[in-house]
Amino acid sequence: MIALDSHAKINLFLEILGKRPDGFHELVTVMQQISLADSLTAERTEQGVSVKTDDPTLPRDTDNLAGRAAALVLDELGAPGGVRISIVKRIPIGAGLGGGSSNAAAAMRAVNELYGGALSLDRLAALAAGIGSDVPFFLYGGAALCTGRGEIIEQTAAGPAWRATLYCPELFVSTAKVYGNLTYDHRPRDGQAFWQAYCAGDFEGLIFNRLEAAACELHPDLCRLRDAGLLMSGSGSTFFAFSPVELSGITTHSVQSIQP
Ligand code: C5P
Repeated sequence: MIALDSHAKINLFLEILGKRPDGFHELVTVMQQISLADSLTAERTEQGVSVKTDDPTLPRDTDNLAGRAAALVLDELGAPGGVRISIVKRIPIGAGLGGGSSNAAAAMRAVNELYGGALSLDRLAALAAGIGSDVPFFLYGGAALCTGRGEIIEQTAAGPAWRATLYCPELFVSTAKVYGNLTYDHRPRDGQAFWQAYCAGDFEGLIFNRLEAAACELHPDLCRLRDAGLLMSGSGSTFFAFSPVELSGITTHSVQSIQP
């Protein structure tokens, strides 16, 4: 049996560079793994992939991203058995914190370890890119400058130490809908410059997310969080701040999180 923490992330910088022929968007983002985490356990079985979580609204087995990821690694390894995965959810869903992608990455690491660890991190990352744009990031963790669809890890670092409060409204945001609501009349901001500022620990005034306006337009309730000076992660609905903020007109579940 293997037990792993499956950490969430926040995006401290996210700029869109354009739409690609495959329908995805070319972007540059800085992601940081945070202390908020689900717990995943995995054990070897005779055959097949079983995934269950403590959230009845989530898909099971290979309908769950973690199950698809586990099946891919079993197949790649030519493993002589299967896996049973169990996930305790703490990361809110549809919240821009990468919970599903993180679970998929943890499942890949767990299966690889259960069956001898033959796949390198880089091989796992190549497989992970086929599961979802953010999945490779979660294999590396820490902080990373990512490009392409988000799946190309350009640089990694531990990241500076900070403490933030996450404000999670009871709102599921569809990533695809937010991307579909983007407009492109902007001059792109410089992700490399943000990365350097982030690694130097002098970044708070530079945090930026191009998806924020598109998400707020689709879900006007999110404007209350933006207008209170909070910053959005991913495609929403979670916003964050480095000092606690008083909010009115919207109910959120707040979580303290540190950059681990
Ligand atoms: O890769 P992932 O499954 O996380 O993407 C979810 C959806 O978000 C995609 O189907 C696509 O509509 C959108 N997306 C995008 N460009 C990206 C990442 C995601 O358009 N770089």
